[in-house]
Amino acid sequence: MKKILAVIGSPRKGETYRVVSDFEAALKKKEEVEIEYVMLGKMEFRDCTGCHNCIFKGQEFCRESGKVGELQKRMLTADAVILASPVYNQQVTALMKKFLDYYSYLWHRPEMFGVKFFGISTGGGMFKDVFRALKMNVQSWGGIWTGELGVPHYESLTPRYKEKCDKNYKKKAEIFLRAIGDAALPSPGINQLMMFNIWKMNAVACKGSIAVDFDWWTSKGLLDKSYYYPVKIGIFKKVLVWFIAWIAKSFMKKVYLGYDGV
Ligand SMILES: Cc1cc2nc3c(=O)[nH]c(=O)nc-3n(C[C@H](O)[C@H](O)[C@H](O)COP(=O)(O)O)c2cc1C
Repeated sequence: MKKILAVIGSPRKGETYRVVSDFEAALKKKEEVEIEYVMLGKMEFRDCTGCHNCIFKGQEFCRESGKVGELQKRMLTADAVILASPVYNQQVTALMKKFLDYYSYLWHRPEMFGVKFFGISTGGGMFKDVFRALKMNVQSWGGIWTGELGVPHYESLTPRYKEKCDKNYKKKAEIFLRAIGDAALPSPGINQLMMFNIWKMNAVACKGSIAVDFDWWTSKGLLDKSYYYPVKIGIFKKVLVWFIAWIAKSFMKKVYLGYDGV
């Protein structure tokens, strides 16, 4: 039985909750799955105060560390995670943004590598920026973005688009289940390799000011690695990423005092 955690960024049990439930039904037609729902509104996270403790000292110094740490553990132990948000002004909701902000430290110390994520959004359309925000965060945490499903207001659709929408649930459920079942860790794209190198470089350059980053990268034995996990990376990607990292480092050296990344 696959265990999936669905983190829902709508302030109510409305359309987004319904779409995730319909997606659950589509998954269940193919395989035995169990979805655990987390309504972010119910978690009652207080606002991020911008203290930077999670980044500079460690997640345990955040005033919401209990809830943040507990939810991170649930994401890490699930077989996959769904992040769902309605479109609000072309973006994720404030609730979902707050959730993403609380995991900013994972950009510095990307502990989610290997975790599979799927995005769901509802609204009139134009889901692109919602998925872009979710995917960018997930990949920066080291997670794997397996796909996304955007569902427009179902009741207002023409019969032709209703049919298209129904087929899409089935297709996306198959894609998601295939990704969950795939034990092999995927070869990273250029963006993921770049993020890996940038944060590794940052950990070394800022070892004086953000010791927790340097300690994390050192303790994981990642400072002399090409990626979070052993994976074959083509020579073209390697050379391109090395070149972009070299440009980034030269630029950072010009801008920041004492910058000395690897
Ligand atoms: C404050 C607010 C802003 C919204 N902005 C957009 C938008 O920019 N584009 C869009 O297509 N729908 C927008 N909507 C509509 C919602 O995305 C849509 O009704 C969604 O399905 C609601 O999901 P829920 O029932 O889970 O809350 C907005 C709704 C609200 C309340």
